[in-house]
Amino acid sequence: MLVTRTDLPLRLLRRGKVRDVYDAGPDAVLVVATDRVSAFDVVMNEAVPRKGEVLTQLTAWWLRQLEPKLPHHMITADSQEIIERVPQVAGFSEELKGRSMLCRRATVFPVECVIRGYLAGSAWKEYSASGTLAGEPLVPGLRESERLPIALFSPATKAEEGHDENITVSRLAEMVGATAAAELERLTRIVYDFGREIASSRGIIIADTKLEFGTVESSVRNESEDRGWIILVDEVLTPDSSRFWPADQFEPGRSQPSFDKQPLRDYLDRERRAGRWDGNNPPPPLPNDVVTATSERYLEIFRRLTLAPLDSGAAT
Ligand SMILES: Nc1ncnc2c1ncn2[C@@H]1O[C@H](COP(=O)(O)OP(=O)(O)OP(=O)(O)O)[C@@H](O)[C@H]1O
Ligand SMILES: [Mg+2]
Repeated sequence: MLVTRTDLPLRLLRRGKVRDVYDAGPDAVLVVATDRVSAFDVVMNEAVPRKGEVLTQLTAWWLRQLEPKLPHHMITADSQEIIERVPQVAGFSEELKGRSMLCRRATVFPVECVIRGYLAGSAWKEYSASGTLAGEPLVPGLRESERLPIALFSPATKAEEGHDENITVSRLAEMVGATAAAELERLTRIVYDFGREIASSRGIIIADTKLEFGTVESSVRNESEDRGWIILVDEVLTPDSSRFWPADQFEPGRSQPSFDKQPLRDYLDRERRAGRWDGNNPPPPLPNDVVTATSERYLEIFRRLTLAPLDSGAAT
């Protein structure tokens, strides 16, 4: 079922570019990944079949494996179990199936914990202009898309409007405290190192990714495990939160094709060059073949990483 937007009988906390987040009781939120797609920060009018399921099931797949390493927010991604726990959504099983996750409600740090293994995107832009990243000097002579000697933790503030702004680690420490800042960096590295190792064995480079973390009230913390007070929230190592590059096409010195949104980006670039789109809202209509190609890319990433098709039963 294609889902562009949900209207569940729960209080809507937030409608993001991709996900609808609902109040599911004092300790929980229900996060529903729709099939909306954005590029260059503009949400398209067309939805991409299966995209929401890929995002949710991939996040669930990573979280299950990360479970021994750090605490996270997932309670369940099984829609039947969600309905048992949140009976108000009982009539919506088709809409929820595969794409929804019941999560421990967290107070989310207002920062994107970005980690970069390669020099791309805004990091490359800043480096090529000034030799720095988030204001701090980086070894000279790196080329576009080059692998960094050590992955770089480069947090950013979450902007309500427009683009996120890179901040230094010391600015992060001022914002959240030195202990939390150090812990955010440590946890971010754990997730990235784990993810990039697995992805690499499947021919995928995770060039960079962005994570969100939050804190939970002590009453709902899992005290028995005493595994710290910061938990991993939001989506994890998905194509929407990360740059995935096909390893067999990797070549530093230029920008890399993106595994997921390249057909969409190429189309939008053509429209821009032809003067039919100015890069802002409203987006141009997408031809069917672009939508289909994008959907296939998302499914392909899921299959390549998890070694199983989305329909293998994991998506419940
Ligand atoms: N466990 C959680 N508790 C509370 N809020 C959460 C939790 N997990 C994720 N969130 C929040 O849910 C929202 C997810 O929505 P979504 O990613 O679509 O929008 P966004 O990140 O605000 O904007 P963008 O469209 O730029 O991604 C985020 O604001 C995220 O911080
Ligand atoms: Mg988000």
